Amino acid sequence: MSLFRTKNLDELLAHASAPGHGLKKVLGPLDLVLIGIGAIVGTGIFVLTGTGALTAGPALTISFVIAALACAFAALCYAEFASSIPVAGSVYTYSYATLGELVAWIIGWDLMLEYGLAVSAVAVGWSGYFQSLLSGLGVTLPTVLTAAPGAQPGVQTWFNLPAFAIVIVLTWLLSLGMRESSRLNNIMVAVKIGVVLLFIIVGARHVRPENWQPFAPFGMNGVLSAAALVFFAFIGFDAVSSAAEEVKRPDRDLPIGIIGSLLVCAALYVVVSLIMTGIVPFKDFAGVDHPVSLALQRANELWVAGFVDLGAIVGMTTVILVMAYGQTRIIYAMSRDGLLPRRLSDLHPRHGTPYVATWLVGVVFGLIAALVPLNVLAELINIGTLAAFCLIAIAVIVLRRTRPDLPRAFRCPAVPVVPLLAVALCVTLMSFLQATTWIAFAVWVGLGLIVYFGYARQRSLLHRGS
Ligand code: ALA
Repeated sequence: MSLFRTKNLDELLAHASAPGHGLKKVLGPLDLVLIGIGAIVGTGIFVLTGTGALTAGPALTISFVIAALACAFAALCYAEFASSIPVAGSVYTYSYATLGELVAWIIGWDLMLEYGLAVSAVAVGWSGYFQSLLSGLGVTLPTVLTAAPGAQPGVQTWFNLPAFAIVIVLTWLLSLGMRESSRLNNIMVAVKIGVVLLFIIVGARHVRPENWQPFAPFGMNGVLSAAALVFFAFIGFDAVSSAAEEVKRPDRDLPIGIIGSLLVCAALYVVVSLIMTGIVPFKDFAGVDHPVSLALQRANELWVAGFVDLGAIVGMTTVILVMAYGQTRIIYAMSRDGLLPRRLSDLHPRHGTPYVATWLVGVVFGLIAALVPLNVLAELINIGTLAAFCLIAIAVIVLRRTRPDLPRAFRCPAVPVVPLLAVALCVTLMSFLQATTWIAFAVWVGLGLIVYFGYARQRSLLHRGS
């Protein structure tokens, strides 16, 4: 039974609401929508749309709609799960207090995969746009330093230097204790939305409808495979629920924030993918790592393409920051509970940041960014996230039965229908990911179980306490 030992919920709640612990309730629905967009819009739309278009053809638009639906159902469950205990570690802590240590460990281990590899993946996307910008200025890097080994068929590449460098620079910033300032976030979000709208306005004039024929050359199979890939473009909305404790009216504002940011992003993605595939025949996106600005270059809008490059770089920088921040927070919470080495929750004496965890994340995921191609990374992140969403959706149903008394700041509507729809859609998307992704994911989960039974279980503070 020790696998299902739980933290004491009342203690956690008392701790969170003790004077000096509660966070200020300052965020309204618009802030939440902006936080969501800040965390969501990045590599998914600026980079993966290229591969997505190759997989689905112009019907990539439909793929975005399907992925958005899966996210919307999962998001409602996520919000109920995450909004209930206002302490660090979000869903990991909540599952620890309700479902027990093993489930909490698996969710935490899964989220580490999501956030950590997302840092790498978005850095690879960043690098593509950075290089496109550099080449516009007449600067090119030695080819071997432009991408991971095997990233471009037929081209010899060793190490993605810009991707590694941006992760290290941002790690350094984070270790100094860069606070997530909502002003800075709002500016960056404005820039991001600005370049996306610029693309839409300028790009729409160059659409040639014949490029949309045939609309779905690879049928439903292609559409769903692309949906499983571009699901990545929506990852990050969970950041909205982690702000739950600072929201003025969580019951009203959280669903507005989550669903609102998802809706805005879904609308932008649908229009952008339609215009992209309308400007450039979808086959021309093969091997392209900056498809949005490529479309503008093809349309001879070189200045606008330059702006889009710049905006994409700014936009992806914020995504890397938020993901790296989320990653260190989860590691910090797991280490504090004794499940990961204690050193990982050491705080820097001056900056007050978990600097050991921060640098570990930076170096490991910086190296992964430099050495692993983007598509491989994106699929792995998707499978980890989809699996975590399934667990959370099931947990919502289970906890409604077993613990109807738990306080819930936000309640998912129509339980169990919505959680079951979330599971069904997430499993469908998972089934369209490649076999190698499944194998890698199985290895990750297996490794997690080995670490749990070989290390974490005995060292857990709960274990030692008992
Ligand atoms: N949704 C984020 C992106 O596309 C992870 O970059």
